[in-house]
Amino acid sequence: MNIRKARKEDLRVCLDIDHRDNEYYWKPQDLENSVEDQHAIFLVAEEEQKVIGYIIGFIVPTKRAEAMIHVTRVDIPERKRGIGKKLVDDFCKEAFKRGADIVIAEIVPELLGFYRDVCGLEEKGNWIAVGKGREAQ
Ligand SMILES: CC(C)(COP(=O)(O)OP(=O)(O)OC[C@H]1O[C@@H](n2cnc3c(N)ncnc32)[C@H](O)[C@@H]1OP(=O)(O)O)[C@@H](O)C(=O)NCCC(=O)NCCS
Repeated sequence: MNIRKARKEDLRVCLDIDHRDNEYYWKPQDLENSVEDQHAIFLVAEEEQKVIGYIIGFIVPTKRAEAMIHVTRVDIPERKRGIGKKLVDDFCKEAFKRGADIVIAEIVPELLGFYRDVCGLEEKGNWIAVGKGREAQ
């Protein structure tokens, strides 16, 4: 299994991985932007020339010592083989190479088992995510 930078021809497969998991968060344009954006880090896991997982995040453009993981997703039949951990490890390596000092992920509590215990990210502070939708204006 090989982890590499995502290319435009990988986008359809990444969306298919999401849809098999009943996830519709990413729009094709989001992924295309993520391939091109200089602050984005978008990696795929590939095995026998087939993309089986991906990770997307970014170097925070307003605080470049910080990087954020947006989503890690592995195709359902390929889970529990260490692919998720390898994606997170390689994301962190790339972020540190680009000058980040810390990689942060905002996660649901159920994913602590993965990010903390498997990938070694530590719990930091008591942050909670808040947001406002356009319709609330
Ligand atoms: C989370 C995810 C990326 C892990 O990928 P993976 O390739 O299975 O990960 P690894 O093989 O490296 O590690 C597996 C370990 O992670 C932990 N883990 C994985 N998913 C977990 C979950 N939902 N809750 C708790 N622990 C979890 C388990 O300890 C598991 O080890 P086990 O085999 O002993 O049960 C994958 O389950 C996935 O795509 N989930 C759906 C998408 C998602 O929720 N992503 C996170 C949003 S940011």
